Amino acid sequence: MQSLPDTLCYLNGEYTRLDQAKVSVLDRGFIFGDGIYEVVPVYGRRLFRFEEHMARLARSLAKVRIPNPHAEAEWLERARRLSAAHSAEDQLVYIQVTRGVALRDHAMPVDLEPTVFMMCSAMKPATAEQRHHGVACITARDFRWERADIKATSLLPNVLARQISADKGATETILFREASNGIKYLSEASASNVWIVHEGALLGPPKSELLLEGIRVELLRELCEEVGIAYNLRPIPEADVFTADEVLLSSATKEVLPVTSLDGEPVGHGALRGKPGPVYARLYEAYQRAKLAQSI
Ligand SMILES: Cc1ncc(COP(=O)(O)O)c(C=O)c1O
Repeated sequence: MQSLPDTLCYLNGEYTRLDQAKVSVLDRGFIFGDGIYEVVPVYGRRLFRFEEHMARLARSLAKVRIPNPHAEAEWLERARRLSAAHSAEDQLVYIQVTRGVALRDHAMPVDLEPTVFMMCSAMKPATAEQRHHGVACITARDFRWERADIKATSLLPNVLARQISADKGATETILFREASNGIKYLSEASASNVWIVHEGALLGPPKSELLLEGIRVELLRELCEEVGIAYNLRPIPEADVFTADEVLLSSATKEVLPVTSLDGEPVGHGALRGKPGPVYARLYEAYQRAKLAQSI
C-alpha cells in the first residue's frame, strides 16, 4: 500500500489524520460505489467557484436520493478548516457522501445516516511543458452508463476509459457515443470535458444525462463572453473533432488545456498544426484572472 500523507481529513463529524480515518466494510460506498463526490479547486487557500460545486453536489445527491447532510455554510466551514491545515497553497478539496452503512441489499434502505468524508490534497497542475506543447489524447467508444450526469463514486467505467490513454502514455481518453442515427458524437473524456474550436468559436456538446456538466462548462461560457469568443453547445460529430482548429480539455485540475495530438495525429491546420492555438491562449489567460477574482 502507498503510504498516506500525514494530513487532516474529516469523517462523520470528526477531524482526524488521513491515515487513521476508518469506515465500515458495510458502507454502501465500499460495497456498491453508492455515493456522490465533488472536487473543488483551491488557489492560495481560497476556494474557486465553491457555490457552483455545492450546487452540483446538491443536484447529484438529489438524483440518487441521498439527503444532503450539510448546508452550504457548513460545507464551507469544513473545507476551509481542511485547507488551512494543509501545507500546499493550491489544493483540491475532495468531498464524498455515501448512502451510509447497511446490510448488503441493492434496494435503498430507509433512514440511513450518510457517510461524509472530506480531504484536502496538493493540486498537481499541468506542467509548463504541457501548456507550451499541448497534450496527447486517445479516442475510444463511450462504454459508460447513461447517467454520466451524476457525479457518482462508482467510477470503474471512467477508470477503464482513462487506462486506455494511460497505457499509451497519453493524458486523456476522449469518448464518443453512437447515436440512434448511427453517427458517433463527442461526449467527454474520462475525467474532463472536451471542447473544439471551429471558425473561432468554442463548441462543446449539449448538456445531457450522457455527460457530466463540469463546473468549467458555465465558467468557459462566461470567459468567452468576457473576451469576445463565440460559444455554443451543440452535438459534435466525431469527424468535427478530428478536423477541428483546436481541441481543449477542461477540469478542476486541468483548468483549460490544449490537446495537440489525437490518436497520434497532430490537431489543427497550417502553421498551428500540432501546436496550442489562440483560443486556448485567450481562455487560459482569462481563466487565470477569474481565479484571482472569484476565489473565496
Ligand atoms: C467525467 C468528467 N467529466 C468532466 C469533468 C470536469 O468537471 P469539472 O470542470 O467540474 O472539474 C470531470 C471532473 O473531474 C469528470 O470526472
